[in-house]
Amino acid sequence: MLHHLESLQEFSEDELLAFVNRAITLKEERLTGAQHQQLAGKTVGLIFEKVSTRTRVSFESAMYGLGGQVIFLSGRDTQLARSEPLKDMARVMSRYVDGLVVRTFGQEVVTELAKYASVPVINALTDLHHPCQILSDIMTVVEKKGDIQSLKVAWIGDGNNMANSWIQAAATLGFELVLACPEGYAPDSEIFEEALGRAVKPITLLRNPEEAVAGADVINTDVWASMGQEEEQEARAKIFAPYQVNSELMAKAPADAIVLHCLPAHREEEITETVLESAQCVAFDQAENKMHMHKAILEKLLMP
Ligand code: CP
Ligand code: NVA
Repeated sequence: MLHHLESLQEFSEDELLAFVNRAITLKEERLTGAQHQQLAGKTVGLIFEKVSTRTRVSFESAMYGLGGQVIFLSGRDTQLARSEPLKDMARVMSRYVDGLVVRTFGQEVVTELAKYASVPVINALTDLHHPCQILSDIMTVVEKKGDIQSLKVAWIGDGNNMANSWIQAAATLGFELVLACPEGYAPDSEIFEEALGRAVKPITLLRNPEEAVAGADVINTDVWASMGQEEEQEARAKIFAPYQVNSELMAKAPADAIVLHCLPAHREEEITETVLESAQCVAFDQAENKMHMHKAILEKLLMP
């Protein structure tokens, strides 16, 4: 059966854990020098309407690392830039490639491509979700802490695409999640309400970052202005100033808490240089794990 990865919502607890376990195995195998060829003869098309360093390169590297190939198309490279309907793009691309990895603005673009594509469509970030990132981040937490389901995860800052995907993961995997966001910058209310309806552990939205990090095992932040919100950067910098992850905030958290940042980081805005470069911060392991996780995702979706 054709499976897409539009958001984490479509996956069960077992399926999410299987991605994590498989990515950890693929990472171990790479360290032993194992040569993988399970996607030999397969090609993935990357359609990126927003810029990317990590997600693009880690998907490309993952595909090559499994013996496959990629075709990268930026926003201006296709007839989408001249308003070719997504349903036509989906059906045409499906005749050339074995999967589509899409980074775009509206979630509805991914939904429409998935509706018409006859190959798997993978969401590599939209304004609403960043599901592959959260899978890599959960893998990193499991590597560092041995588990995520018994932990308390804190999200500090904007209730953005990353926060929305964390909320869906918390509901499905059953870990505690506390979000501290300024008024007016809460996560998507539909996603939040849906998650509350099925969560087995608390998912809480607070205003106070100090309250959120108290007792937290994992502290997460992200840029205050996401891609597409550049014009709001200055206004947001003022509103989000009390939400900076700095040494004072870290002093309120357990000493063994780890700090996650999906990168790119804006130093001295959402996180200080001191915290980002501290031993508690695992941002560069997260970045590495994107490649291992993308291998696990590509393998699962392209070799059903
Ligand atoms: N974390 C992340 O998605 O980074 P890029 O925007 O560089 O892909
Ligand atoms: N929330 C950020 C994540 C970047 C990887 C953005 O959407 O720009």
